[in-house]
Amino acid sequence: NGTVVDGYRANDLYLRPGSEITVGDTTLRFTPEDDEVDVAASPDDRFGPLVGASVAMRELFALLAKAAPTDATLLVEGESGTGKELVAEAVHAASGRAGGPLVVFDCAAIPTQLMESELFGHEKGAFTGATSQRVGRMEEADGGTLFLDELGELPLDLQPKLLRALEKREVRRVGGARTRRVDFRVVAATNRDLAAEVNRGAFREDLYYRLAVVRVRVPPLRERAEDVPRLVEHFVRRALPDDAKRAAKILASISEENRARLMAHPWPGNVRELKNLIQRTLALSTEDDPAALEPQTAPGLERRPEASDAPEPVVDLDRPFSDLKKEVVESFERNYLTRQLARHEGNYSRAAAASGMDRMYFKRMLKKRG
Ligand SMILES: Nc1ncnc2c1ncn2[C@@H]1O[C@H](COP(=O)(O)OP(=O)(O)OP(=O)(O)O)[C@@H](O)[C@H]1O
Ligand SMILES: [Mg+2]
Repeated sequence: NGTVVDGYRANDLYLRPGSEITVGDTTLRFTPEDDEVDVAASPDDRFGPLVGASVAMRELFALLAKAAPTDATLLVEGESGTGKELVAEAVHAASGRAGGPLVVFDCAAIPTQLMESELFGHEKGAFTGATSQRVGRMEEADGGTLFLDELGELPLDLQPKLLRALEKREVRRVGGARTRRVDFRVVAATNRDLAAEVNRGAFREDLYYRLAVVRVRVPPLRERAEDVPRLVEHFVRRALPDDAKRAAKILASISEENRARLMAHPWPGNVRELKNLIQRTLALSTEDDPAALEPQTAPGLERRPEASDAPEPVVDLDRPFSDLKKEVVESFERNYLTRQLARHEGNYSRAAAASGMDRMYFKRMLKKRG
């Protein structure tokens, strides 16, 4: 039934702020920045693999349900562990491309120097080490969806190449002469504020607008505590697929007080932290000796430090300023980096991204201080 932008029929969308997209008899307005598309919250507490009972999530489900069948590019923003990748999976599954591939390209996981050939592919002999031809992720996504994960990590020099490929829907392999037409839908995700990255010159504005056709934010779990019981139920049942009785028993054994504690926990690792807590707790408990779901006991995921928790560094006036300062800085660096790594469950790329640091630098620094 075709997609119409500002009254014109369109195959390939390039939207300016304020553009209106008509899909069937639904009109979406493309509004950058803080303006929000108004959709009524979905009555369902799930959308494909995503579950959520909060109004924020049900609004997200309604928006995804509208956007999924269109070919509109989606930008998914949210903290680590909020479910951005699951949003991409849900959108793909609910789109006309569900029969095609969902190809993940994680900008944070691929070394910078290999990124271009990973994405676009290369011909034999294109560069030292290119001993054979290689099809890139974009070509692999033909007929399906390309999920560009951690997009904020995409180096500036690759951004115009990505933009060109997205606008023309054409791929030229590194070292190749001919271009190939590819047909894919893009879902991009980032845990950074990309608009802010644009403002500080770290991300190209034209690429940002090309990707943020529909922009969705997955709220952190602490902003939607109503989802916690629903997610607990979901993960307990999923962890015990063949033992519905035990799952029900465990769920019934959660006290009001325990439930309130789970809902009050700030979940710095978001849904991933909750899922891991449940898996760990179930692994440690037996029928006769059930372990309680206690968020605070999770190793490495302690409470978000409040400013007042931080001890004042000791000011020992008998020691030289430079020595003391060095000690304070080193201790801060050690503390910051190890906590950041724990929060991202040992994933260096994500920990470095969240710190606004280069991955290699993060690793080297941690090694020095660790
Ligand atoms: N609403 C949800 N319903 C069910 N499972 C969820 C939901 N949100 C997240 N999860 C689960 O939590 C885990 C983390 O989600 P996901 O990997 O999608 O997060 P992410 O935002 O991509 O994180 P990162 O930024 O660290 O890559 C996954 O196992 C995912 O299946
Ligand atoms: Mg992810």
